[in-house]
Amino acid sequence: LIMVSCGRPDTSKTSGAKKLTVGFSQVGAESVWRITNTISIKKAAEEAGINLIFKDAQQKQENQITAIRSFIAQKVDFIAFSPVVDNGWDVVLMEAKDAGIPVILVDRKANVEQSLYVTLIGSDFYEEGVNACKRMAKLLNETGNIVEIQGNTGSDPAIKRKKGFQDQLVNYPNMKIVKSETGDFFRQRGKEVMAYFLKDDAKKIDAAFIHNDDMALGAIEAIDEYGLRPGKDIKIVSVDAVSQDIFNAILEGKSNVTVECSPNLGPQLFETIKKIASGEKVEKWIKTNEGIFDMENAKEKLELLKQQ
Ligand code: AHR
Repeated sequence: LIMVSCGRPDTSKTSGAKKLTVGFSQVGAESVWRITNTISIKKAAEEAGINLIFKDAQQKQENQITAIRSFIAQKVDFIAFSPVVDNGWDVVLMEAKDAGIPVILVDRKANVEQSLYVTLIGSDFYEEGVNACKRMAKLLNETGNIVEIQGNTGSDPAIKRKKGFQDQLVNYPNMKIVKSETGDFFRQRGKEVMAYFLKDDAKKIDAAFIHNDDMALGAIEAIDEYGLRPGKDIKIVSVDAVSQDIFNAILEGKSNVTVECSPNLGPQLFETIKKIASGEKVEKWIKTNEGIFDMENAKEKLELLKQQ
């Protein structure tokens, strides 16, 4: 007896590869970093043949929790997310665990028990803070008053960049942080915070440690408008190294250093998901390799960014 089948063959069975469905909850669109990260994830999902359900939480934890619950209800194969803040994830991640859905943390860690997620894919924010402080020490000849503009309060990068910088400061007794405020990782907020610092006591400020480049670009505008020279009167060290604007600012002498934090996590995410799906073990933290950029090497990196 010969069976003749009609319609398209079910290659998912013959190739042994079922199309995986992944629910991803993104923080929002606060920075060039975040927008680049979203593009990376969407593009890599398409290239990897993943069915991606993408939700933008617009900076709100409750939106992320709702998104994760909807992924559980839809019985996705994997849940991935970038937690907007560190705390408050235990209950919803326990629900995912009970439903048997593996969770991957992307970019930011959540303050939960290790059994509630499979792996974290992202940067070493603490190390970024340490490196930022070392570069600041060089710029200031180890002496000066620093203002800090932090990322969103309670987030993994804000906590660890601050801690890394502070821990390193003990090596430089003549350098100190005189003011610290959050700018939520938004350019406009960075500008507002710097304007407020300047108005309060501009003479006291020798440098700024700023948790991302968007806020640094805002702060540069505020310093310009105040009538001081950013990068000269007030040295600037920030984090990300993603947008062309920060490299242009460095080349113009308006900013000094940017410590890299890579947003291109999409390919690694889906590679890791496929490994887990095929039963491979993965490390608990898959770290990203990163550089540091200043006047010496900014041009090279800018050219690379222009080609992308
Ligand atoms: O979590 C990474 C941080 O989030 C980036 O440094 C910042 O630009 C983004 O918004």
